Amino acid sequence: MAGPGSGGPEGVEGGKSRFDDIYCGPDPRAYFRRLAPLEYEIPHHAQPVFRQAATERAALDEGSTHGPAVLDVCCSYGINAALLNHDVTLAEMCERYTSPGSRTLSTAELRASDKAFYAARRRPDPVPVFGLDVSAPAVQYALEVGLLDAAFTDDLEQGSPSPRLRSALADVGLITLTGGGSYVTVRTFTALLTGARRPVWVDAFVLRTVSYQPIARTLAVHGLTTTVDVSRTYPQRLFTDEREQRYAIAAVRALGGDPTAHEENGRFYTLHYESRPDAPRQPVSRPHRDGGGAAPGPG
Ligand SMILES: C[S@@+](CC[C@H](N)C(=O)[O-])C[C@H]1O[C@@H](n2cnc3c(N)ncnc32)[C@H](O)[C@@H]1O
Repeated sequence: MAGPGSGGPEGVEGGKSRFDDIYCGPDPRAYFRRLAPLEYEIPHHAQPVFRQAATERAALDEGSTHGPAVLDVCCSYGINAALLNHDVTLAEMCERYTSPGSRTLSTAELRASDKAFYAARRRPDPVPVFGLDVSAPAVQYALEVGLLDAAFTDDLEQGSPSPRLRSALADVGLITLTGGGSYVTVRTFTALLTGARRPVWVDAFVLRTVSYQPIARTLAVHGLTTTVDVSRTYPQRLFTDEREQRYAIAAVRALGGDPTAHEENGRFYTLHYESRPDAPRQPVSRPHRDGGGAAPGPG
């Protein structure tokens, strides 16, 4: 674990520790081993929200030849796809990939075991899930064990969607995001929304240290209204060290949020942003700008 002020072996960008080395392993073990002690929990909180959104979004397209797909952005090893379509919890996945028994398996053995594990837990009403992540080994693993129906490694921060992704976007009806709000920006969302052919909903859990306003404005250009209930916060993970905590507290304050009883207690917290073509609710008006915060809607 990194010592205070060092930023640690995982590196630091913009004050938040980075874990780039665990995103590219051949299977999810290093990912869970590193994040488990930090009590990474945001996909657990997203699970019921994404299930509900996927069900509601699918109902809109009832009668069409095939239902809308979910596109999980920054999908990594398909964690949200696993939680969406399988009777499994994040705690069970964490136990599975950090248990002493799993350490002795080769990646091929783990892959075969995972394939059977997820097949046995497949829910009766799975929705198609596409994954987008710049880590080829991670999405490849998720594809091979049956968590993703299609996977894409396009880096939309750097370039345009490939023809294959462009064609897949025609099927996407819901975009989900956890743990990626520090990596993807308006560039990625502009590319995705520009390529959409069906009405697209977006459900994103984003750290209170990051402003969602630029993305919400971009989504507004594409006809989506974004709402957020700032009274509802979701813990993401423990800080790696005091330096990261100091950064987070300052970042939340800079966005007009209050870190008391949140980041001051040692964890990152997120807000859930929901973007819909016809917002069922008015955007929540907030006394401060963001990060715990501000109305992210247009303007
Ligand atoms: C913290 S992980 C989140 C994984 C998963 N969504 C979760 O919550 O457990 C961040 C992921 O973002 C991916 N990523 C980083 N930059 C990206 C980009 N420009 N486009 C897509 N994915 C990116 C990384 O490869 C990594 O898998």
